[in-house]
Amino acid sequence: MRDVRTVAGAFRTARGFDSSPLYSRLLAVVADDEALLELAAQTRHGQQPTFALFGAVHYLLLRGESDPLAEYYPSVVGDRARPFDGHTGPAFTRFCEAYWGQIASIIGTRLVQTNHVQRALVTRVGLALLRRATSAPVCVVEVGCSAGLNLRADRYAFTVEGATFGDRGSPVHLRVEVPGAALLPDLDRLPGIAEVVGVDLDPPDLADEEDRAWLRALVWPENAHQAAQLQAALDATRADPPRVLRGNVIEVGPDVAAILPAGLPRLVVHTATRIHVPAEERPAFDAAVAAFGADGPMLHLALEDDRRIAPSGRPGVGLTATDAAGSRTIAVADGHLAWLEPLPAINELHLRP
Ligand SMILES: C[S@@+](CC[C@H](N)C(=O)[O-])C[C@H]1O[C@@H](n2cnc3c(N)ncnc32)[C@H](O)[C@@H]1O
Repeated sequence: MRDVRTVAGAFRTARGFDSSPLYSRLLAVVADDEALLELAAQTRHGQQPTFALFGAVHYLLLRGESDPLAEYYPSVVGDRARPFDGHTGPAFTRFCEAYWGQIASIIGTRLVQTNHVQRALVTRVGLALLRRATSAPVCVVEVGCSAGLNLRADRYAFTVEGATFGDRGSPVHLRVEVPGAALLPDLDRLPGIAEVVGVDLDPPDLADEEDRAWLRALVWPENAHQAAQLQAALDATRADPPRVLRGNVIEVGPDVAAILPAGLPRLVVHTATRIHVPAEERPAFDAAVAAFGADGPMLHLALEDDRRIAPSGRPGVGLTATDAAGSRTIAVADGHLAWLEPLPAINELHLRP
């Protein structure tokens, strides 16, 4: 059980819910309701209670629980979903009261594991940057990879400002708005891939219906495109899943590192993962990630909760690159990667020889 005041703060100050008008409004409903806060306080330690509570309610509605609350969820009732009105908050509160035990059980056991496929662009850019710096085959590591869908970035199609890269026949096709795309490396020029490995606290099983349903529930109700992209990636990846080690990177990092051939360059990526690491564990998390560079030159890309303003003036999240020359912001992006604005620093890669 977490401190209710801290949970209230999480709902009051949450940002980044712009693509969900429903959740944007429900944040205040929860923040002002002591009972709902007590329920959300049962979220697992370190996990963001906003994502967890909304995900659990969505999971039950998608499973078919019949309730007036469903009328506000486009993911359940489609185009006839009602916009937020004076009845939505009370409907949400009543639903939580009715399903209290099930919601508490879900948020007390499940992790926030949203595997947002659009973020695979980060890995694709990292691979293309490495190809410019080295002709050697590279290793790819994703920390907090959830179902491992973004470890297949080399197999997806990407359309950036009208130009398409990657496997044009892939069922997974990402379209990203990239002003200043000329700064990006050639996304069709990738290095050979020597090893791909992910690590996750509790990797969802691609073949397990419950795990798939939970991943689906973590996609916000209005984001139909994102849900379709998730299903496509789950199906495509299920046939040939990447290797994913179970565990906390702080503990199993050395086991992951042992898989990587010594001396080869490595791309280490984490997106929307560190934000779910308890604050007191973050120094150890950072040390575990840095340790992947012990046996080979490393490019470490992180898209986490680093609020920045993009060159166009819109608020976003910094994409940080760390290499032999230190850390710098190389782009500012939407947290869901609907857009990415590269900065000139993206072209300053310094790999340790
Ligand atoms: C919100 S998901 C993001 C998944 C993926 N990176 C993406 O952007 O689509 C965060 C993932 O990080 C994992 N995670 C959190 N802390 C971790 C840790 N210390 N070690 C390994 N995995 C962790 C969680 O289990 C979860 O699957």
